[in-house]
Amino acid sequence: MMRRAQIKGWGKYLPEKIVTNHDLARFVDTSDEWITERTGIKERRQRGEGETTTSMAVAAAHDALAVAGITPADLNLIIVANSSPDYLLPSPANFIQHALGATCPAFTIAAGCSGWVYGLTTAHQFIQTGAYTNVLVIGVEIISYALDYTDRTTCVLFGDAAAAVVLQPATDGSGVLTFELGSDGSQAHNLWVPGGGTVNPVSQSVVDNREHYIRMNGQEVARFAMRKLLSCLQNITAQAGMTPADLDLIIPHQANLRIIEMAARHLDLPMDKFFVNVHKYANTSAASIPLALVEAIEQGRIKPGDTIGMVAFGSGLSWAGAVMQVGVREPTLASVNGNGHAKVTI
Ligand code: UT7
Repeated sequence: MMRRAQIKGWGKYLPEKIVTNHDLARFVDTSDEWITERTGIKERRQRGEGETTTSMAVAAAHDALAVAGITPADLNLIIVANSSPDYLLPSPANFIQHALGATCPAFTIAAGCSGWVYGLTTAHQFIQTGAYTNVLVIGVEIISYALDYTDRTTCVLFGDAAAAVVLQPATDGSGVLTFELGSDGSQAHNLWVPGGGTVNPVSQSVVDNREHYIRMNGQEVARFAMRKLLSCLQNITAQAGMTPADLDLIIPHQANLRIIEMAARHLDLPMDKFFVNVHKYANTSAASIPLALVEAIEQGRIKPGDTIGMVAFGSGLSWAGAVMQVGVREPTLASVNGNGHAKVTI
């Protein structure tokens, strides 16, 4: 039987600091009503004093390793999906590897909100070929550092979080069944940070013009997101000989509840087929899909033998989706402490 990447461990880390829509409305020209109606978001997490991309990733990774029953020394590869690094050089994966005490190779994928699914499919390749056995794939973002809190069209939409998954080979036919990766660079400027790179290096004028912050053409991105959520879901399920209706759970990128509701209407599927936590955490970019996946497992929404579909979309503009079948003998989560740190027996 073919080797496929299967989820064997999972963990998440959420900063304790909660920023509600009402909190934002105190200093930005917005309202809880507007944000709730247009996005479904009620609150988001924001990193606290001393929390870094590395520290959040390591906390999520420790839980994922504990669930899998392995140590950092057992890891063959660490892939980090991230667009909000602690430093521009080296990449966050190197800091995270060192902080974990791992000695394996580590690299970062910068594919915006699609990054973690890019990471999952990359890990799947290494596992399928037999090159690696234990691969840690982390999605982590402190996107708040790149938000312009004078721009109401972006600053209300994002939150900070980390989530991680340990992948190991399954040979019972379960694991990653199909995937689709995509990029449409012609739309790069619809969601970008215009300053701070080689074309427009950090300068006083970059800072004065607030070009070191995220800018988004929301309507264009929403159109793209809608199209890709539907086509990607249809493509990855068709490759698996299924339709979206055959999936037990769909985990869409948590950017906007309205986009998810529109997808459900177009596909004529009930909303309970879709996992939603955007109201609690907003858009956590590369952490969004793994965070939703971890919460779905913790809430018992994913059961042994289930088939799940994940679709992400975001800056690039990029998209990425995968269908996975959960093994029939997968471990279940025994208990979860207050901050969502998994404390498990397998
Ligand atoms: O992870 C990356 C993927 N990102 C996404 O998927 C985001 C996709 N885009 C969206 O989710 C939506 O386009 C937004 C939530 C960003 C915007 O919603 P919209 O319904 O498309 O609003 P809009 O851009 O058409 O703006 C409508 C109005 C405008 O005012 P005028 O020009 O009609 O007077 C905006 O200035 O809403 C205004 N507006 C706001 N008002 C209060 C925009 N942001 C806000 C705000 N509070 N935060």
